[in-house]
Amino acid sequence: MSESWQWTTDKFAADPWRPCYHIAAATGLINDPNGFSFHQGRFQLFYQWNPFGCEHKNKHWGHFSSQDLVHWQSHAAALAPTDWFDKDGCYSGTAVSNGENLELYYTGNVRNGEQRLSYQCKALLQPDGKVEKLGPLTIEGLDNYTGHVRDPKFFHWGEQSWIVLGVQTLELQGGISLLQQQDQGWCERHYVTKDINFGHPQQAYMWECPDLLQLDDQWLLLACPQGIHSDSAEYNSTNLSGYFTVDMHGGPAELSISNDFQLLDYGFEFYAPQTLQHQGETVLIGWLGLPDEAEHPTVAHNWTQMLGLPRSLSWQDGYLLQQPIAAIRELISGQQQHSYGAGKHSLSGISRSCLLEMELTSCGAFQLLLPCGDASLSISASQGQWVIERGQLGCANSDKKRVYQSRSASPTKLQLFIDSSSFELFVNDGEAVLSGRLFPQQAWGQAQLILDDGQVALTLSQLRNS
Ligand code: FRU
Repeated sequence: MSESWQWTTDKFAADPWRPCYHIAAATGLINDPNGFSFHQGRFQLFYQWNPFGCEHKNKHWGHFSSQDLVHWQSHAAALAPTDWFDKDGCYSGTAVSNGENLELYYTGNVRNGEQRLSYQCKALLQPDGKVEKLGPLTIEGLDNYTGHVRDPKFFHWGEQSWIVLGVQTLELQGGISLLQQQDQGWCERHYVTKDINFGHPQQAYMWECPDLLQLDDQWLLLACPQGIHSDSAEYNSTNLSGYFTVDMHGGPAELSISNDFQLLDYGFEFYAPQTLQHQGETVLIGWLGLPDEAEHPTVAHNWTQMLGLPRSLSWQDGYLLQQPIAAIRELISGQQQHSYGAGKHSLSGISRSCLLEMELTSCGAFQLLLPCGDASLSISASQGQWVIERGQLGCANSDKKRVYQSRSASPTKLQLFIDSSSFELFVNDGEAVLSGRLFPQQAWGQAQLILDDGQVALTLSQLRNS
């Protein structure tokens, strides 16, 4: 057994960068959320997890469950890479509640020297918590791809069961493959790729973690295209997470994707989200990280990476809205409220676990400066352009600034969640989100708010540990 198993969780518990109300693993590395589902009266959430170290290898499925998406209970790992069909990683996938069992669909990653093989596998999580691996699914028609075929996500089309997969063609282009369940197994019925147009059309070399869902009457395809280069201040990562609108009138076998790719997050680190639809609500949860990221200082404390806040999705007048889930407000333990006019104002009380909300009226421009020792966060909006900057990040990532051009000329609302080493900024009631990580060495100091004109109603809430 690896020595790493003897890592204690003490270092995590004592770490000031440990999240108070976000999901992280107490040891090792965590990445994509997986198998987000509702089963036996609870939300089930699995995650890519290397329990043995802080590198991207040994991927297990860790497991949490919750009644309210705020308080999470940790369970034993559901999948470990112990079989010939998943020996180099139980990669991302989906979960479907079926009677007493929770069906887990995931990608078995296998490497033989330079060769990579991917098996789409099934396992059953039984009521006693034991997992039975059923091995690779029988699938017809996946011959036209390299070994990069992964991240199955389940969806229903009427009575039919379908899976969407991320794929790479033999020409090294990314896309999705749609599999339909048949009596004898699964069969590919449709394959789609698409140029992504950021001023000039570009092909990604791989699309990871696709997800197909219907919001009101609109179908959306979420995907993480890799290898896109853009000079735009909005799209300055080669690993993107966003969505396309989709025409499903002909059903999944004739699905057609629009040209318009929209980011799900305009911040620094956000990737591999997955959605769950339950009792009329659609909830999305993502990883507050990116592939190929610089090492975080928390590695010295035997843990790294975390998930984002669950977001509630809706579709309104042709736009996607993302709001923090309402239940997160249960964590509020104390509040101060202020109202300010034009000028410069100081604010104390920013802490490692808080929510800062501003409702702006008749305001053309503002700037909010949040110092934190050498680190800092600056948020501003002017002529509809929102800018977020992080100073002295605390690790080797060079990205310091992100920009979001809003649909409305004036800022109307801001919600900023701070949790130890993460921030998530919700703009104008869900119009956009900008997320990122920051590793401050000191406590937050006095914030400065500069308001050019208009008025702001400001609420600062302290948030309890979840
Ligand atoms: C996305 C991803 C998936 C893969 C998993 C491996 O972050 O690369 O495509 O299944 O992570 O951990």
